[in-house]
Amino acid sequence: MAQNLWGARFQKELDALVNEFNSSIKTDSLMYSQDIQGSLAHAEMLCKQGIIEESDYNDIVCGLTQIKNEIDNGALVIDMNAEDIHMFIEGELTKRYPKAGKKLHTSRSRNDQVALDVRLYLRDKIVSLNESLKNLISAIYEVAKENVDTVMPGYTHLQRAQPVTFAHHLIAYSAMFMRDYDRLNDTKKRLNFSPLGSCALAGTTYDIDRDFTASKLGFTAPVFNSMDGVSDRDFCVELASDIALIMMHLSRFSEEIILWSSWEFKFIELDDAYSTGSSIMPQKKNPDIAELVRGKTGRAYGNLITLLTLLKGLPLAYNKDMQEDKEAIFDSVETALKCLNVFAPMLRTMVVLKENMAKAGEKGFINATDCADYLAKKGMPFREAYKVSGSLVALCIQKGKTLNELSLDDYKAFSQLFECDIYEAIDMTTCLNKRTSKGAPSRVAVEEQLKIVENFLND
Ligand code: ARG
Repeated sequence: MAQNLWGARFQKELDALVNEFNSSIKTDSLMYSQDIQGSLAHAEMLCKQGIIEESDYNDIVCGLTQIKNEIDNGALVIDMNAEDIHMFIEGELTKRYPKAGKKLHTSRSRNDQVALDVRLYLRDKIVSLNESLKNLISAIYEVAKENVDTVMPGYTHLQRAQPVTFAHHLIAYSAMFMRDYDRLNDTKKRLNFSPLGSCALAGTTYDIDRDFTASKLGFTAPVFNSMDGVSDRDFCVELASDIALIMMHLSRFSEEIILWSSWEFKFIELDDAYSTGSSIMPQKKNPDIAELVRGKTGRAYGNLITLLTLLKGLPLAYNKDMQEDKEAIFDSVETALKCLNVFAPMLRTMVVLKENMAKAGEKGFINATDCADYLAKKGMPFREAYKVSGSLVALCIQKGKTLNELSLDDYKAFSQLFECDIYEAIDMTTCLNKRTSKGAPSRVAVEEQLKIVENFLND
């Protein structure tokens, strides 16, 4: 009759369509090793507390270890018709060690089991995400280090604004990714509590030791309320939100890579191994990687909304709706990992077209603020100096010249404060080197910023 482990009160087999609909194995089979890790800790605790006999415990360890090794090496294929990974592994154990296998689920429910597995799985993934983030930050650092003197226009409104260097521009992204790294660690701190022993929702009448399993599995402590232990998935939402931010940062960076690769900018050239061609236009070299990263950001945002929406109407404690959490959060994790891992080598291999950046800096009057500052430093109130500099820009536009090309007479016609040192003051190198305030683009200021990144990388 009924094949399911929970089948005792049922008179009929589950409809085939329902079985497929109800099953989560395609997603949760990814957590097989965490499921086994959790079961081993649970069984050890049951034995230590005298709830199961030592011989049963030994059989459970043998069985679970065999199953883990066989899944690892492909000898045991996970049955995609099973309800979920918990049922599959318990069923497999029971086939091999019927007496011991049937004791494993004492004082445990799939509700605390799944909450545990997801936490263990995501805890590992946070470590991978942080490794990938660090590798990306290190790639940015390497490129920045090579470009401390590479002048380029800094933009606001995508209009040339003031001179910066490519290093300065890149370090802005390091700062963002460093915060992302911190955010993941914060999430890990809050995630790292063990729901095991919450059982279905109301704990158990057995004399279990939740502190033992929590510490065995590397958690800070057990979740202190059993209903919370099985019902909340805030750690999934938090991680999905961290990932949405990582993807948002990657997406802005992608947008710039795409712009910089265009003929209109031509600030960089991506390596052939990190770009693709067109099937019809032979001349094309497209920044597909960056475009895909920008595109995949949508998924990460979608997954966050999926999770928030999934949880918002659920009464305590467990509801089957929650099975949907894994698809969303696992997709976010895998998407972010893939994007981070492809982004770092794309940056490391791109060619920086320094002359084109410098050339872009010559046009666009990005030294107009420095011209105003020149007057202001000679005593003219800044607002007045701003007007003079603006009028000089208008004159340049009319004459088709840059500020550096105007004659001293042109300058003096607007203010007698101008002397021939104006040319030095608005020279691009001076404009950069004088920007020594903390966080600014001068070499000294950028070296300080690089040091901060370096300390982070060496930490
Ligand atoms: N596959 C389920 C999930 O992912 C496991 C928990 C099932 N619990 C239950 N009471 N049916 O959420």
